[in-house]
Amino acid sequence: MKVEVLKLDNFGRGIAYINDKICFIENALPNEIVEIETVKENKKYIEAKVIKYIEKSPLRIEEECPYSNICGGCNLNHICFNDENRFKINKVKDIMNKYANIDKELVKTIIYHDRNNYRNKLILHGKDNYIGLYKENTNEIIPIQTCLISNPKINEIIKVLNNTNKEIKEVIIKTSNDNSKVMVKITGTIEDTSILEKLCNVLIINNKYLTKDKVIETNIGNKKYLEGIDSFFQVNNTLTKELYDEVLVNVKDKNYKTILDLYCGTGTIGIYISNYVKEVIGIDYNESNINDAYKNKELNNVNNISFICDKVENKIDDFKDIDLVIVDPPRAGLDTKTKDYLKEINPEKIIYVSCDPITLARDIKDLDTYKVKYIKVFNMFPRTYHCESVCILERR
Ligand SMILES: C[S@@+](CC[C@H](N)C(=O)[O-])C[C@H]1O[C@@H](n2cnc3c(N)ncnc32)[C@H](O)[C@@H]1O
Repeated sequence: MKVEVLKLDNFGRGIAYINDKICFIENALPNEIVEIETVKENKKYIEAKVIKYIEKSPLRIEEECPYSNICGGCNLNHICFNDENRFKINKVKDIMNKYANIDKELVKTIIYHDRNNYRNKLILHGKDNYIGLYKENTNEIIPIQTCLISNPKINEIIKVLNNTNKEIKEVIIKTSNDNSKVMVKITGTIEDTSILEKLCNVLIINNKYLTKDKVIETNIGNKKYLEGIDSFFQVNNTLTKELYDEVLVNVKDKNYKTILDLYCGTGTIGIYISNYVKEVIGIDYNESNINDAYKNKELNNVNNISFICDKVENKIDDFKDIDLVIVDPPRAGLDTKTKDYLKEINPEKIIYVSCDPITLARDIKDLDTYKVKYIKVFNMFPRTYHCESVCILERR
């Protein structure tokens, strides 16, 4: 069937209509005429794939990655970086306006760095003697030689693993932001570990550390952070500093006394701003994150931060007299209890760091005793449809 693509949806898929039913088409751009095949259909929508491009958009670019449309990692390889950034800021503007009635002008700008080699973490899966990435929405492994968005050290490790006899279930590779340190965890068997032992600062095979070091150190601005294999760490090598600086400008010189850093991971944001406030309390439910958060506190000689290892929703009602709350939840956003208590605590400001604009819009709407001062978009995940936002909420 031949259709004309009208616009993009929030996931970067083309939208067309067939007998008034919405049809989502992977790798299709506005104004393209494409021949499609239905992949899935229900009462409300159709999902389709392109069989043939009859008229291509002038915005379409050659896809550099050999695994494009196969591995399921990046889905915006077919537009240039400028168009990708334009798509992302417009998507955040539209979502904010549609779901939270926010003036589009309050979504100020999109900040971006490199389109390639920006990732400091990659998880690969293995079968027989090969390793690779899952094909989208399947358990089928696509063998890979290199990953365009991962940093060079990760690609060096992939090359070594590809040249070694192995039977691996999973490999986690993490690097420091300056690309100097590398940490690898392998589940499975590998014939020769000698090259890996030379290359890796931390090497873990089947939960056994083959190196003296158990963590790698990385810098963000003038702070140092230790990171274990199981701890959360922002994946963009360079843009994380800009993201944290956006939080910092909203804290500096404001004389805030007590601050909550909710969903604090390894304590990175709380430590980043700790010089400018009296006291920070970080909460995260992941034990490995909180263990590393305490190490990071010590590494940076910070005396005014403490951490709680628990769910935010279990602890949020313990607090009052808080000047500022920073939240950085996972994609699901904030739960109802947390939002209700945030309104009760009634801090002067809430800084909401979000990795999903849809749940951000929902939560802004629910936090109705606050108004949006501005939102900035950070393209932390180039080539994918994902983006991060920092939203500054002020008490009405
Ligand atoms: C997006 S990360 C943010 C980490 C940190 N702010 C940073 O910049 O590195 C979200 C964090 O929330 C934690 N988390 C998820 N659900 C939680 C919950 N209900 N209560 C506490 N922590 C939670 C995860 O362990 C993860 O560290």
